Amino acid sequence: MARKKVTVVGAGNVGATTAQRIFDRGYADVVLVDIVEGLPQGKALDMLESGPVVGSDASVIGTNDYAETAGSDVTVVTSGIARKPGMSRDDLLYTNMDIVGSVIKQVVEHSPDGIVVTVTNPLDAMTQHALEVSGKPREQVFGMAGILDTARFRTFLAAELQVSVQDVHAYVLGGHGDTMVPLVGATNVGGIPVGDLIPKDRLDAIVKRTQDGGGEIVSLLKTGSAFYAPAASVAQMVESILFDRKQILPCCVKLQGEYGIEGLCVGVPVKLGAAGVEEVITLSLTDGEQAALERSADAVRELIDVMRNRQN
Ligand code: NAI
Ligand code: 2OP
Repeated sequence: MARKKVTVVGAGNVGATTAQRIFDRGYADVVLVDIVEGLPQGKALDMLESGPVVGSDASVIGTNDYAETAGSDVTVVTSGIARKPGMSRDDLLYTNMDIVGSVIKQVVEHSPDGIVVTVTNPLDAMTQHALEVSGKPREQVFGMAGILDTARFRTFLAAELQVSVQDVHAYVLGGHGDTMVPLVGATNVGGIPVGDLIPKDRLDAIVKRTQDGGGEIVSLLKTGSAFYAPAASVAQMVESILFDRKQILPCCVKLQGEYGIEGLCVGVPVKLGAAGVEEVITLSLTDGEQAALERSADAVRELIDVMRNRQN
């Protein structure tokens, strides 16, 4: 059986680490694309030469030419400028909008039937832009952020309680920004509601640390933003799609009335399978959580308005 084909656009930190994760597992041939000449070629060749050691027979090539990406089953878009210290995700809006728009046109031209996973920030606005430029249905163009935000929340909760991360079940919904909504009410540890295990002041601090999770890494790295956990999160989405796992994962998808939100790309749990987003999962939220989700959606809407006004 022929291997699946995954293109990763942007051979920087997130893109190259995502490509490496997929290549290492050997289930898909990988094409790494960047505008910088030599960068994707050099990283891909280096990765390929790790094949005999890691036991991967997959192919990985680097290119500056979208012709090589033709027929990709999934394309991951990481191209853009990353956050620097003191820079908000929103500062990235216009530069990354131009980059994502031009990338998506080329991706759709060469892989018209493929699924697109956006990563570039500001994530929700870039997903909306990619979806609109692509002309594809929402099932095939959606973004990665909620898995990362939820992974941070689960990591901090597991450390607080000294339990396995695998026993912490949680969702972080909303936009990928300061207004994201860690669902404390739906979070349980081995079936026990987290509110019964951690006092409110500590839980509030963990929620805040989760919301600031991207900035915490930026202020430590000083020259860029997180990429190990983001790449792992993208790989989980790619695997759920290519293996038709139908995992329920928080992803950024255009809502069409679900959660009372219309026409806006925001993070909610979805079923991810071979067809992409196969279902939007509607959780019952408390009034407080619903209000927080609406506030988060408002923040996304503001960005999208800024984007639209610039286009006109
Ligand atoms: P990076 O700077 O290491 O890599 C970006 C790459 O994109 C560079 O190699 C650059 O040459 C390339 N690029 C720029 N314009 C291009 C174009 N037109 N076509 C092809 N390639 C192009 O940045 P990093 O750390 O990989 O982050 C990438 C993006 O992902 C950033 O916008 C960052 O904010 C975002 N991000 C989003 C996360 C999320 O949860 N959604 C998590 C982590 C990062
Ligand atoms: C993060 O949350 C930069 O959005 C990226 O780490």
